[in-house]
Amino acid sequence: MKGIILAGGSGSRLYPLTLVTSKQLLPVYDKPMIYYPLSTLMQAGIRDILIISTPEDLPRFEALLGDGSSFGIRLSYLMQPSPDGLAQAFILGESFIGNDACAMILGDNIFHGSGFERLLSEAKDRAEQGISTIFGYYVNDPERFGILEFDSAKQVLSIEEKPKEPKSNYCVTGLYFYDNRVCSLAKTLTPSARGELEITDLNNLYLQQRKLEVTLLDRGFTWMDAGTTDSLANVSDFIRTVQTRQGIVISAPEEIAYLQGWISAESLAASAVRYSNSPYGIHLKRVAEGKT
Ligand code: DAU
Repeated sequence: MKGIILAGGSGSRLYPLTLVTSKQLLPVYDKPMIYYPLSTLMQAGIRDILIISTPEDLPRFEALLGDGSSFGIRLSYLMQPSPDGLAQAFILGESFIGNDACAMILGDNIFHGSGFERLLSEAKDRAEQGISTIFGYYVNDPERFGILEFDSAKQVLSIEEKPKEPKSNYCVTGLYFYDNRVCSLAKTLTPSARGELEITDLNNLYLQQRKLEVTLLDRGFTWMDAGTTDSLANVSDFIRTVQTRQGIVISAPEEIAYLQGWISAESLAASAVRYSNSPYGIHLKRVAEGKT
């Protein structure tokens, strides 16, 4: 199974924060935003990951994350020359995906909740057997998202992108698990009225073919996208609150790699040195020493 993090776009809703830096490198409390979606793919057991971003920002991601060896994974990098839509990732990434199934996560999406690893592993298994998976989440502002329409038996009928009159409050989060047909299906899409290859059109194709599982995340689960100044501040507050209350670090890729058995305690300790005496670095050192 391959994984893609889509981390491009202009981030214009966050100006001036993103005038000279990428949105997905902004801090979410104590770490760069991209650590969160990277951790999610790693929690799914995915070790071959492609980061897609703008020509300007791609070198910065590479400087931060390198070849992935400190996370026990392989990272590759690819430019998206202009933001022509989320589904374009599967056209640009075709040779990376090869003969595998592929998950994609948006670089500004943050997931946190118990039981998540089981959901991820089930989605991965399904995608490898030809059934794709998206995740639904109840929101108060459905006009901002791709929105699910259900029939009376709670079966999904369709998905609408940013509907003026939403048919439910369940949105489609920015985490998708597709089978290997995703590249060929993405190539059949035509640009929407806003000029983008829409992920919602791709999901509707899978839905029409009855090859789409929709997993609803329950209310105890937290999903946020950090695409606006308010949501960025909210998600930072949330991470800070949970981490300080529970004495944990959410979405530390090196810790996940260690827990997955992908890197040794020695490698983890070596990574900790890079972060110096920051709380993040101290946490990794404690994990490497078996003190957590
Ligand atoms: O966050 C979940 C929502 O993400 C879904 O409910 C929607 O169905 C889906 O279309 C998407 O909506 P957004 O309005 O959030 O999409 P946006 O255009 O803001 O792009 C999401 C992220 O992907 C953003 O961080 C920028 C990046 N991006 C976007 C486009 C269009 C790219 O890297 N390349 C692109 O071509």
